[in-house]
Amino acid sequence: MARYAHITGWGMAVPEQVLTNLDLAQMVDTSDEWIRTMTGIGERHIAAPNQSTATLAVEAAIKALTVANLPPDQVELIIVASATPDHLFPATACLVQDRIGALNAGAFDLSAACSGFLYALNMAAQTIRTGSLNNILVIGAETLSKFTDWEDRNTCVLFGDGAGAFVLQGSDQPGGILSAVLRSDGSGGDLLIIPAGGSHLPASSETVENRWHFIQMNGREVFRFATRVMAQASREAVEAAQLTMDDIKYIVPHQANRRIIESAAKQLEIPIERFIINIERYGNTSTASIPIAVCEALEDGRIQPGDRLVMVAFGAGLTWASLVAQWSGPFPTKRKVYPVWFRAWARVISRMRRFRRYVEGVIWGTNGKS
Ligand code: UT7
Repeated sequence: MARYAHITGWGMAVPEQVLTNLDLAQMVDTSDEWIRTMTGIGERHIAAPNQSTATLAVEAAIKALTVANLPPDQVELIIVASATPDHLFPATACLVQDRIGALNAGAFDLSAACSGFLYALNMAAQTIRTGSLNNILVIGAETLSKFTDWEDRNTCVLFGDGAGAFVLQGSDQPGGILSAVLRSDGSGGDLLIIPAGGSHLPASSETVENRWHFIQMNGREVFRFATRVMAQASREAVEAAQLTMDDIKYIVPHQANRRIIESAAKQLEIPIERFIINIERYGNTSTASIPIAVCEALEDGRIQPGDRLVMVAFGAGLTWASLVAQWSGPFPTKRKVYPVWFRAWARVISRMRRFRRYVEGVIWGTNGKS
């Protein structure tokens, strides 16, 4: 029997601290008017020093599991899509696995910049459709503020921090993720890049002095690329799902620039009201922007079970992606579970595992050696 991958849980998290355009105008040569007119952004949320991509991801994940009423120990796979992971390794997904108590889950990170959440959703959906796994947590999480050059007005006005998570579950009932289109063009890799910190240009005093650990972008070229692919990719995903644009209730675009979204609306001949847009309050949160927009539209009742959505994104790589999903909502379950309770339990388990490793290290005499 055919299997379908349904979205049964969702959650979002943003840091408390808000940075307005007026605040930015005190930091670099810019203005509220320029930022609003050129991007549609009014403010963005910025992580505190003790917050990271993993901490925001955990918050969003617990909310998504609560909506799905799924205990963390039943999650079989965690995929974190992020352009700003906590470390090069271990994967941020492993940090999330440990902190939410997903004791039976595999975990890995996926790097496709702002398109990463849609890439990850499609990977999860494919895994469920094959029948190999049934419960997958997909997270888009970013702390872009930690990689932003706060002296560069070309980029620092654009980005914000946040996380969004979906729970995907398998069922024989048709619905869920209906189609996906994934594309890339590495010839444009230099257009949006953090040049240093990888194997190509490892950290050195020179890379720090030259500010090569921060985001660099050719805004005009990325803008041109984005306006070229958004409408085309949306059409392709709708066709692949054997639907027409009239079957789609909302388009949820990556929130990078309001003008890019308006251009896509024009090309698709769809009124802007059918686009979910919240860039004004969050800026560009990369992989988190689509799930955050979906969470807000669910919260205020715009998206209802049965609605079909197109999600479409583009980003560094260059990458772009689109998919069609039919909204499901949580599967009926017998008894209420409280995924947040697992956090305390997860901490105990994690400490026990560390302690066991320590004791084994003492026995084998390997502590302090690497
Ligand atoms: O997730 C994907 C991530 N990135 C994107 O989606 C970004 C796509 N690109 C964009 O959104 C736009 O390119 C920007 C909003 C970043 C810039 O808009 P633009 O129409 O491409 O402007 P521009 O870069 O060509 O700059 C126009 C002018 C320049 O001044 P001059 O040379 O004409 O005197 C810039 O120096 O605007 C100036 N400028 C600013 N002025 C005030 C650039 N940034 C700022 C700023 N405040 N923050």
